Amino acid sequence: MQTQRILILGNGGREYSIGLCLSQDSRVEALYFAPGNGATLLLGKNITYNDNHDLVRICKELDITLVVVGPEEPLTKGVSDVLRANGIRVFGPSAKAAQLEGSKAFMKDFAMRHNIPTARYIKSSDFAQIKEFITTLTLPIVLKADGLCAGKGVIIAKDVDEALENASKMLSGELFGEAGKVLVVEEYLDGFELSVFALSDGKSSLLLNPAQDHKRLLDNDEGPNTGGMGAYTPTPMCDEELFREIQTNIMQRAIDGMADDGMPFCGVLFGGIMVVRKEGKLTPYLLEFNVRFGDPECEVLLPSLETPLLDLLLASDLGALQVRFKNTYSVGIVLASKAYPYAKSEAKPIFIKDFDNSLGHISFAGVELNTQHSIDSHTSDKKLRFVDVQNGALLATGGRVLVSVGVGNTLLQARENAYKIIESIHFEGMQYRSDIAMRGIRFLDS
Ligand code: AMP
Ligand code: GLY
Repeated sequence: MQTQRILILGNGGREYSIGLCLSQDSRVEALYFAPGNGATLLLGKNITYNDNHDLVRICKELDITLVVVGPEEPLTKGVSDVLRANGIRVFGPSAKAAQLEGSKAFMKDFAMRHNIPTARYIKSSDFAQIKEFITTLTLPIVLKADGLCAGKGVIIAKDVDEALENASKMLSGELFGEAGKVLVVEEYLDGFELSVFALSDGKSSLLLNPAQDHKRLLDNDEGPNTGGMGAYTPTPMCDEELFREIQTNIMQRAIDGMADDGMPFCGVLFGGIMVVRKEGKLTPYLLEFNVRFGDPECEVLLPSLETPLLDLLLASDLGALQVRFKNTYSVGIVLASKAYPYAKSEAKPIFIKDFDNSLGHISFAGVELNTQHSIDSHTSDKKLRFVDVQNGALLATGGRVLVSVGVGNTLLQARENAYKIIESIHFEGMQYRSDIAMRGIRFLDS
């Protein structure tokens, strides 16, 4: 295989972890991030671009052989289409296929059309119709803004009055602006959640190990929803039978459906699955599709891959490939800033003591280079050294600042290792959950 010059779009822990994984592959000759974060400078170079056409120009200038798109927003805005039209290879779906995440109404109608099990729903902008449907549901009631809301567009109302009040605020644009003016109202599904990822070339799909996210801010799944406070993989809560059912009835059905509808899905499809116990049997339902890797799921999935990530990103025929996993578990714990997810926090320097690398590693997310800090070892291209990072060269500036990723031969060991790494990390105001992966561990004990 020719050597690769890769550009990763995005600036979070997900993009750092993709970069970290690719930087260990001898076939990767150069790595760029746009815009990247303060720590992606450890792995490659950060660049910026103005619009999709500017991006094409830069890719040609830098001789980029593969663009990997991290977040959903550039995908819904057609970045993959423009790159492909200009002969630049890209890992990420077209704007049409990205509607699976860009519009919840599109996703629900698609799921119904292709017989993918999902919660009963209506999509509507008509208050009277919404009110009528709500009276047919048992409590609580789920309201979703149709458009992208950075993970915030879902309200779970405990009674009819609360549901109607929120529906009215969404329709008027008061709650989520334009994104909320079309609503999906759906029945509440009671069960446990899984994150499932299918790599697809438009026809075949390869599933990665099932993961579990922790969306709420506080222990015991309390507090507000966040982008995710921690994740682990593989989860023992998904046995082979359940996994096969998710693969057949949800993930592959979606890949086939998108191909049949004339918008083949190429990239990674992320199924947010709710597993409900029905008449004694565990039954998976689709909650949502995302058209990208999950964050922090990506940070824990990549260390468990035995097959090189690069092979998966470049494969044009996934049917001819087998994805192999290590026999290890990974647990990722998000360290967030003091005011997350309510407000921006003041920037604080991060200090890291030496830790045993066999425990795992850190994936950096909301960090910026501290320009006040003198970095003696700075080379001319501003490449950081880990020793600078350890000594306050990075500032915690984002909501989710970094992820401590522990790896181990058992889930318990991986979890202990992740918490051990945290003992070496300090920044003022840092907060994290103390029960990441406990659901899986309790399941094993039961
Ligand atoms: P979504 O953005 O659609 O994944 O929703 C965000 C979160 O809201 C999910 O991860 C679930 O925890 C919860 N949720 C969404 N839809 C439902 C539903 N129909 N029943 C129960 N919980 C839901
Ligand atoms: N961790 C959930 C997400 O990436 O949307």
